[in-house]
Amino acid sequence: MSLTIYCLNGPNLNLLGEREPEIYGRDTLDDVRALVESRCSEGGASVVFRQSNHEGELVDWIQEARTKGAALILNAGAYTHTSIAIHDALKALTIPVVEVHLSNPGNRESFRRRSFVAPAASGVIAGFGAYGYRLAVDAAIELANKRS
Ligand code: DQA
Repeated sequence: MSLTIYCLNGPNLNLLGEREPEIYGRDTLDDVRALVESRCSEGGASVVFRQSNHEGELVDWIQEARTKGAALILNAGAYTHTSIAIHDALKALTIPVVEVHLSNPGNRESFRRRSFVAPAASGVIAGFGAYGYRLAVDAAIELANKRS
């Protein structure tokens, strides 16, 4: 049976392409979805790709990935820097977690330097725009295959 990769996206990422394009680029979330779907299919995996502006919905989906996913790619947007609920949900997972960001929070405002996702993630990919999602898919598939 093929692997299922969950790719979850947090608040404001629905506005990709329009929102601060000098920081986040001109690719839309649909472009990112297409890239993730095509890279997953090349790697023999299927994908569940979603976006929500709501913290609780993201927590529900992380819990869903716990039983239905082989790996999780997460761009939690600003919740990365604030959400203990997302941190706790991630800590309940045994599948690999890849944290991804379009921008590099490490070279931006100081409030973006703290991540509540990173301590629960296998690794972090940041600063490469939409291309980072392609790297994240490769990492997620590699880690999921190693576990199975
Ligand atoms: C982001 C970085 C976060 O700091 C920010 O709040 C976002 C997007 C990124 O992908 O670069 O919404 O996660």
